[in-house]
Amino acid sequence: MSEEIFKKVVSHAKEYGFVFPSSEIYDGLGAVYDYGQNGAELKNNLRQYWWKAMVQMHENIVGIDAAIFMHPKTWKASGHIDGFSDPMIDNKDSKKRYRADQLLEDKITRYEKDGKTNKAEELQAALDQALLDNDLVQLKMLIEQHEIACPISGTRNWTDVRQFNLMFSTEMGAMAEDADKIYLRPETAQGIFVNFLNVQKTGRMKIPFGIAQTGKAFRNEIIARQFIMRMREFEQMEMQFFIRPGTQKQWYEYWKEARLKWHKKLGLGDDNYRFHDHVKLAHYADAAVDIEFNFPFGFKEMEGIHSRTDFDLRNHQELSGKKMQYFDAELDENGKPYGNYIPYVIETSIGLDRLFLATLCASYKEEEVGEDDKKDTRVVLALPPVLAPYKVAIFPLTKKDGLPEVAREIMGDLKLDYNCFYEEKDAIGKRYRRQDALGTPFCITVDHESLENKTVTIRYRDTMKQERISISQIREILAAEINWKNLLV
Ligand code: GAP
Repeated sequence: MSEEIFKKVVSHAKEYGFVFPSSEIYDGLGAVYDYGQNGAELKNNLRQYWWKAMVQMHENIVGIDAAIFMHPKTWKASGHIDGFSDPMIDNKDSKKRYRADQLLEDKITRYEKDGKTNKAEELQAALDQALLDNDLVQLKMLIEQHEIACPISGTRNWTDVRQFNLMFSTEMGAMAEDADKIYLRPETAQGIFVNFLNVQKTGRMKIPFGIAQTGKAFRNEIIARQFIMRMREFEQMEMQFFIRPGTQKQWYEYWKEARLKWHKKLGLGDDNYRFHDHVKLAHYADAAVDIEFNFPFGFKEMEGIHSRTDFDLRNHQELSGKKMQYFDAELDENGKPYGNYIPYVIETSIGLDRLFLATLCASYKEEEVGEDDKKDTRVVLALPPVLAPYKVAIFPLTKKDGLPEVAREIMGDLKLDYNCFYEEKDAIGKRYRRQDALGTPFCITVDHESLENKTVTIRYRDTMKQERISISQIREILAAEINWKNLLV
């Protein structure tokens, strides 16, 4: 995957109704995007893949849908008011703002690309240490030492490095004077923590158990880049797994492996994943690892797995004055109940938009088709069939002779179970190409022979093979391929 391909993926996403810049008629809004008609379908399907794997397939994990707005004390307890910031630096000539650590990460990637492995490793170690120590002066020194220039002005005329809180705030209440300052949640996790006892009691959940949710999160990212990779409004899919204190190592390893397996099942290429252990731990974690994906611009974080200890529940207990404890009636090795304790937590947290981007990048293919003077290039999205926006496209070969009626009848039979696309216009080859570009795994063409013997042509996206089958076989063929089983079992 190259950066050249990335540019193509971005324009493909726009041209085929997957992703549009937000409020584009007003020239867009930085790092905010809208999902179009095909993007919304793909995103829904990816969300479902996560929900089915995490909630439906686990008896001890349930899902909730908490509000975006939360009591402001939530963010004091979680540490976001005091500690959720990024180091920023401004270029005095271009007046552009950057994340200091990101400038250094980019330099490391450049060193790696140029084969300067030692330099890359040396800088990575220095960066990790500076972040660990929260040493803003050292970050500036590294930027100077490695002669990093502003990509816009080309100068090295930098301000000092400062901290910048990433939470968006707004006001709640009708009158500005007595309005309360509240925040747009920067992570969905806190909606789970504050509901821990509600869910545990009403669901009679026994430790170990998990609470999952998907939903929007908001961060005022200093720099917006790489399309939907880093956005100011994005979607997270998070699961908090509540466990006995002392068992966190075992469950951390369990979820690391389980989540990697889930990613690999998507079929985007096993070599495209790697773990990256955190050296600088977030304010709530005692161990953390990223699952990185090989995006066209290099390996970058897709999912985080964090051992969050009892940090969140303990702080909520302190600030709210409400007990956040669990009574464990099971007996320990001495035959005594474990009793009351604040559970420890292992969190899995994945960005849906990043998953979407990874899926799009890895599925995008340009293939040479045809022979000799009829050579052509086709663009195909080789998505797992169950994730494709449309599962099947139905085409009458012509608009007359009763062919549309037969095609409509087939569509009527399938559309309750599968998202179907119907099209009568243009040459059949052109219609096939458009579906390839959307990732539709099957096209069904109704022709004159269909009227005589109730058969159609089925065309397979990946092989472009066409087969004559009877109309009564369609469902069986679709069911074998468009099946969650292929991903979940
Ligand atoms: N509750 C833990 C948490 O929020 P995080 O590592 O800050 O951890 C988790 O975020 C995931 O959310 C990341 O791995 C990434 O996939 C996604 N994510 C974070 N910031 C994002 C952004 N600005 N745009 C898109 N996705 C983002």
